[in-house]
Amino acid sequence: GIKIATIGGGSSYTPELMEGFIKRYEELPIREIWLVDIEAGKEKLAIVGAMAQRMWDASPYDVKIHMTLDREEALKDADFVTTQFRVGLLNARIKDERIPAYYGMIGQETNGPGGMFKAFRTVPIILEIVEDMKRLCPNAWLINFANPSGMVTEAVVRYGKWDRVIGLCNVPVMATMIEPALIGKEPDELIYKFAGLNHFHWHKVTDSHGNDVTMDIIDKMYQEDNGLPKNIFDVPFYREQLEQMRMIPCGYHRYYYRQEEMLKHALEEYQTVGTRAQQVKQTEAELFELYKDPELDHKPEQLQQRGGAYYSDAACETIASIYANKNTQIVVSTKNEGAVPDLPADCVVEVTAYVGGQGARNVAFGELPTAEKGWLQVMKAMELLTIEAAVTGDYNTALQAFTINPLVPSGETAKRVMDELFIAHKAYLPNF
Ligand code: NAD
Ligand code: G6P
Ligand code: MN
Repeated sequence: GIKIATIGGGSSYTPELMEGFIKRYEELPIREIWLVDIEAGKEKLAIVGAMAQRMWDASPYDVKIHMTLDREEALKDADFVTTQFRVGLLNARIKDERIPAYYGMIGQETNGPGGMFKAFRTVPIILEIVEDMKRLCPNAWLINFANPSGMVTEAVVRYGKWDRVIGLCNVPVMATMIEPALIGKEPDELIYKFAGLNHFHWHKVTDSHGNDVTMDIIDKMYQEDNGLPKNIFDVPFYREQLEQMRMIPCGYHRYYYRQEEMLKHALEEYQTVGTRAQQVKQTEAELFELYKDPELDHKPEQLQQRGGAYYSDAACETIASIYANKNTQIVVSTKNEGAVPDLPADCVVEVTAYVGGQGARNVAFGELPTAEKGWLQVMKAMELLTIEAAVTGDYNTALQAFTINPLVPSGETAKRVMDELFIAHKAYLPNF
C-alpha cells in the first residue's frame, strides 16, 4: 500500500486531490493519506480532513485519512509527498497584491514583487521539508504545487540537492483540455509541445498528421471560454504579436505583453471588489461551509471557481505515472537537460515530458524565437536571483532580482516597495 503525505493538507483543494486519487485507485492503490498542517490551519485541516475521509468512505476503497500537525510523523516512510502550503495564508497574499499596486506595479501571487516575496517566504520551508525527507523518506518523490511552483522546484534541485522532484501547474492542463474543442477536435487528436518557465511558457500544437494547428487555435482564442484560469483578467493578446510568434503564450504572459492594461484593470478591481486574495477568501469561506456538511461526500462544483481547477489531473496523474511507470505526457517543472537549449542544462524549466518510474524525460523543444529567448533568459535570471536571496537572506541580491524583474520599473519606488514588503512580511522571513 502506498503512503501519501500532503503538506498544507488544510487547503480547500484537498477534495480535488482526493477525487483524483479515487479516480485512479486501481492503478494507484493508496493505503493511507497524511494531511499535514500547522497551528494556524488546524481548523481548516479538521474540516477538510473529515470531508476527505467521507469521500473515500463513499468510494469502494478502504483508505484512511490521517490529520496531523507533526510533519515528521507524516513524512516517515512516505512514498509520495505533495506540497500545497501557503506560508502566511491569504493575508500574506493580500499584502503581495496591495503593496505593489499602491505604488503602481502589478500585485500578483506569482509575478512581479508579490511573486518574488512569495518565493522568499516559501523557499526556506520547502528546503526544511527536503531535509526532513532525506532522513525520513529518502526514496520518496516530491510533487510540488506550492507557488511560485517553478522557483520552488528550482530551489529543491539547486539548494536542496534533491532530484526526485516534479513541479506542477494546472495551466497547461487547462489549455490541453479546452483548446481542442475550439477547433472541433478531441484532445487525443492533437499533439502538444510546451516550453518555458512556470507561468511563463509557450506552446505549439499539431494535429495527428503533424500539421501545425497553432494559428487555428489562436484564431479561436478571442472568445469567452478559451481555457484561461479564473484568476486572470482576459486582456487579449495583440494578434500581430502572436502572428509573429506562432506560439500560444500562457495566460500569465498578459502581465508582460499588456502590462499597462493589466495594471489598470487591477487598480479598478482593487478599489471595488478587492484583490484576488480578498475575493478568494470569500470563495474559500463558502467552500468550508459546504465541507462542514456531514452529508457532502464529493467535490463541490464551486471549487472550479478557483484558479487551480484541474489541479488533480496534474498531481494525481503524475504520481500514478511514476508509480506504474506509465510514461504519460505531462507538462512539468523539471531539470532542463537540454530540452530548452537557450537556458542552462542544470536549471529548472517547464516542459512537456514523459513521466514514468524514473521521473520526467523531457521532450526537446529546440531554440526559441529571438523575442521569447530574450524574455526567458531575463526571467530565469530573475528567478535565480530571487531564490539565491531567499536562501542567503542577502538584501543586495534581492534588490538585483527586483531590478531585473520586467514588472518592476527600477528606481526609488521599486526600492520603497521592496522595503515595505520586507516589513509587511517580517514574521515569515527569518533569513532576512
Ligand atoms: P491555503 O491558504 O488554503 O493554504 C493551504 C494550507 O497551507 C493552509 O491550511 C495553511 O495553514 C497551510 N500552511 C501554511 N504554512 C504551512 C507550513 N509551513 N506547513 C504546512 N502547512 C502550512 O492555500 P491554497 O489557496 O489552497 O493554495 C495552496 C498553495 O498552492 C499556494 O502556495 C498556492 O499558490 C498554490 N497553488 C498552486 C497552483 C499551481 O498551479 N501550482 C494552483 C493553485 C494554488
Ligand atoms: C492558477 C495557477 C496557480 C495560481 C492560481 C490562483 O492560475 O496555476 O498557480 O496561483 O490559479 O488561483 P486563485 O483561485 O487562488 O486565485
Ligand atoms: Mn500555476
